[in-house]
Amino acid sequence: MESKNFLVVILLVLTQFTEPVKSQGPTNNSIAAAVSDAAREVSARRSGGLVQAQRAASGQSGPQGMAAPPAASPVDTPVSIHARFFSRREAPDFVEAVGFAGDLVTTATANFAERNGGALPDSAEFRRQLVPYCPMRSPVCNPNDLYRTANGSCNNLRNPLWGASFTTQARFLPPAYGDEFNLGSIPRRKSITGVPLPSPRDISNALFNTGTSPPRSKRFSIALTHFGQFIDHDFVSTPILRDDDQDIDCCNGNTPVIRPECFSFSTPPGDFKTTCMPFVRSDFGVEPGCIPGPRNQINQRTSFLDLSVAYGNTLDGQKDLRENGTGRLLEGLNRILPDGPPGTECLNGETCFKSGDNRPAEVPMLTVIHIIFLREHNNIVERLRSLGYSDGEQLYQEAKKILTGVYQHIIYTEYLPVILGDEGMDIFGLRSTPSGFNTQYNPSVNAATRNSFGAAAYRFGHSLVGSLVESYNEDFTPRDKEPMEDHFFSTRLIRNFDDKFGPDAISRWMTTQFKSKSDRFLTPAVRNRLFQTMPKNGFDLSALNIQRGRDHGIPAYNRWRQFCGLHAAQHFGTNYNGLTDHDSLSAKALKSVYRSPDDIDLFAGGLTEKIAPGALVGPTFRCLIGFQFMLFKTGDRFFYENNFYPTRFSAAQLQQIKKQTLSALYCRTMDVNTMPESSFDTPLAGKERKPCNTFPGLDLKPWANIYNSYKGNK
Ligand code: HEM
Ligand SMILES: *[C@@H]1O[C@H](CO)[C@@H](O)[C@H](O)[C@H]1NC(C)=O
Ligand SMILES: *[C@@H]1O[C@H](CO)[C@@H](O)[C@H](O)[C@H]1NC(C)=O
Ligand SMILES: *[C@@H]1O[C@H](CO)[C@@H](O)[C@H](O)[C@H]1NC(C)=O
Repeated sequence: MESKNFLVVILLVLTQFTEPVKSQGPTNNSIAAAVSDAAREVSARRSGGLVQAQRAASGQSGPQGMAAPPAASPVDTPVSIHARFFSRREAPDFVEAVGFAGDLVTTATANFAERNGGALPDSAEFRRQLVPYCPMRSPVCNPNDLYRTANGSCNNLRNPLWGASFTTQARFLPPAYGDEFNLGSIPRRKSITGVPLPSPRDISNALFNTGTSPPRSKRFSIALTHFGQFIDHDFVSTPILRDDDQDIDCCNGNTPVIRPECFSFSTPPGDFKTTCMPFVRSDFGVEPGCIPGPRNQINQRTSFLDLSVAYGNTLDGQKDLRENGTGRLLEGLNRILPDGPPGTECLNGETCFKSGDNRPAEVPMLTVIHIIFLREHNNIVERLRSLGYSDGEQLYQEAKKILTGVYQHIIYTEYLPVILGDEGMDIFGLRSTPSGFNTQYNPSVNAATRNSFGAAAYRFGHSLVGSLVESYNEDFTPRDKEPMEDHFFSTRLIRNFDDKFGPDAISRWMTTQFKSKSDRFLTPAVRNRLFQTMPKNGFDLSALNIQRGRDHGIPAYNRWRQFCGLHAAQHFGTNYNGLTDHDSLSAKALKSVYRSPDDIDLFAGGLTEKIAPGALVGPTFRCLIGFQFMLFKTGDRFFYENNFYPTRFSAAQLQQIKKQTLSALYCRTMDVNTMPESSFDTPLAGKERKPCNTFPGLDLKPWANIYNSYKGNK
């Protein structure tokens, strides 16, 4: 990729795409009509939403509160387990208000466009009409606040809601939906030739199927896969639409249910019990001020790499995870995650966990990463206490700030170099400096998680997922194993301490065994048996990814090639002007399902590319992932390398942070005596294990005096 081309692209996209068409004509009464007609229509669709939206719009309620646990315990089905992935734990009323307003905005915009030859309504008048329903209010920020807010607001002082939880996912490129005015009521669903796009399952069968378990990496460990997943749960969580409190089942046997929330697709006879794979569309929200425009999906998480995955993304959510007054996070027995309400974030009949994100039990290896960060937070709190700190709030905030710094350091110095390679790191300026401050903050950068990144590019990680959950003994010999598909949203293996599993024994395996290779193949555990409760009733995760991209109006692969300064494929060959970043087998597979190279879905085209030199992804995903992590760095006022008084680390503190590695964290939090230098490099590839006492400790002496300035600031 030409980095010069790229800079031009960067400048272009720093402007937000919110209005796809210029508004035209004078203010017109018909805006009022469009809005009031839409209010009637959307109230019928989302019965509870109107009240919530009006309450939020009048300032009576904000993003607060926790979801009540479900009354009766229903029977688990793949649909109910899938819905658990998208649950609304924090601020459920606010999500409802935001969803209502989002639906109102797009519906009113469509009404107006229909009645006015495709014109968009005048923005100022439209916003005036939306005032009674518009829930997003910019908080007043204090630039001297020492710490991040719970919900990510006020990170950017001029645009306080940039990157905040419950705002919409931003876009690199305008959406490509299927309805007349490209507003999103209909997903992207047609080939440029006019016929329907191929079924996501047919695409998956042609591209992502190895028949058996895909090959293993020859170098990297399972820890890489699930540390990557933990990061994903830090920056994005897209809720799906609901019918009041009910999960929506979008298939009736073999028959797709027809309603606006559903976008089910057909699967070939024999693949699954039925030929209909249920799919519920994502919920969508509003821009602050409720300007007219297309459907943009909600992000329930803060976009920033701020460990909201561990701490929560609202004040109430944070409180729910804290001990009272001690600065510590709640722990369960054996220092695992604390118990959550039954039937919420795990299978029925089990005792669930709770954490900052609603998916901690999605797979046991992810729970292990959660536990590492939970334990280390409390370790840091106790060591600060022994330095003289005593105020619970300060203990909490300072330990959180330290751990978030360590986390960011691991991402930018250990994780991203593996995913993007040296070239990718350099193109996007992602390297941390070995020592000292390195302020790259740019207040005009919006760090918000981009739609194409969350719905497609960062899902590359699904190829790294293996087929088993295993445990190893203290001497790193195998102890036990279980099929992974039996443990989605299960807490059993983590709680099974005395016997065979438990987080420590699983973590020994995670840092030893090779992960599944980064290629176009997915393990049958997620490609055929995701969330299955009986044979052949599961999901295909890669098919969901493709359909999710269409649901979100993600433009086709070729558009992203151009966005990245790469050329678009004009034919399915791998020679000049064709699929030059694909090998011939992948290109043939693409040709077997798509009518035109312009139809290729981003997830399908990106995952099948040959990997870029030294990276784990091809050039297109490398570009989208690199770009997003550049925004996460340059758009985060609290980024750990920044030198801004009073939020920065001191030089001596930063020096300590920059010595840390994920292996050092494993050593301090898990029952292991040795670790490879990098926890992502397995010893099976020849990397020696080193005794834990040779890894740098986290020396907190540079924090000894900070509590004085905190008191002054308070
Ligand atoms: C066993 C491991 C994993 C399982 C079972 C899993 C499962 C899922 C499921 C069910 C979804 C929602 C699919 C949909 O309906 O759109 C999803 C979304 C996603 N996955 Fe995974 N995943 C796993 C690992 C990973 C890894 C390793 C990564 C990245 C390194 C990743 C990145 C993502 C992202 C970015 C999303 C979008 C989330 C959102 O917008 O809410 N996943 N995954
Ligand atoms: C304004 O409203 C009238 C109907 O009251 C409609 O005929 C006309 O097309 C609208 N014009 C614009 C620019 O919105
Ligand atoms: C975020 O948190 C702040 C306080 O930290 C609060 O004022 C605001 O209402 C919250 N929500 C949003 C969307 O900003
Ligand atoms: C903390 O205190 C509040 C009331 O002061 C109480 O409602 C809550 O349950 C307590 N939390 C814990 C974890 O003890």
